[in-house]
Amino acid sequence: MSVLRLGDVAPNFAAATTEGDIDFHAWKADSWAVLFSHPADFTPVCTTELGRTASLQQEFDARDVKTIAVSVDPLESHVQWAGDIRDVGGTDLNFPIIADSDRVVAEAYDMIHPGEGDTSTVRSVFIIDPRNVIRLILIYPKSVGRNFTEILRVIDALQLTDAQPISTPADWSPGGRVIVSPAMTTEDAREHFGDVEEVKPYLRWTAV
Ligand code: BEZ
Repeated sequence: MSVLRLGDVAPNFAAATTEGDIDFHAWKADSWAVLFSHPADFTPVCTTELGRTASLQQEFDARDVKTIAVSVDPLESHVQWAGDIRDVGGTDLNFPIIADSDRVVAEAYDMIHPGEGDTSTVRSVFIIDPRNVIRLILIYPKSVGRNFTEILRVIDALQLTDAQPISTPADWSPGGRVIVSPAMTTEDAREHFGDVEEVKPYLRWTAV
């Protein structure tokens, strides 16, 4: 296992999932992906997280994002758990869960942190772009469920900043004002965006 960093290519792997065997890069193809690990099936926080992900699938689809979960539990366990995920989240399980019993995915993505108690995976999140490049890594402890609205917000910000010469400020949410790239002069920014407010030479606000 080597350390994965932003900008690295997401490691490929072959895995058994609740939707059949996959080659990760072929399954993902040229979409975005959210690969996220959970410690164990039939546990309360994980059940809420996977239920929430299922209920947000239309939001992920609208952004061309495929979601895929992983834990070291076996496939039969994932399949049995799917009913509970539906009961709790209100939506049928509609994305694959990887059965990583041999820990191939967990090791490639450094998802097992022994200091966190046992040899199950912690709550890692990898956002991977259409070129298979890792664009965001989040790691949560086992006791804290993730905020999937935040994951969608980051995807919106990544897609926006890929498309325009801008960055997003603290606490940005879609529709909020954005920051002109430092690489652009204010004159060029006014030509490109129209209205630009220069607060500091390096901090120029605009709307997109
Ligand atoms: C949970 O999903 O509730 C959970 C799983 C493993 C450790 C702690 C909490």
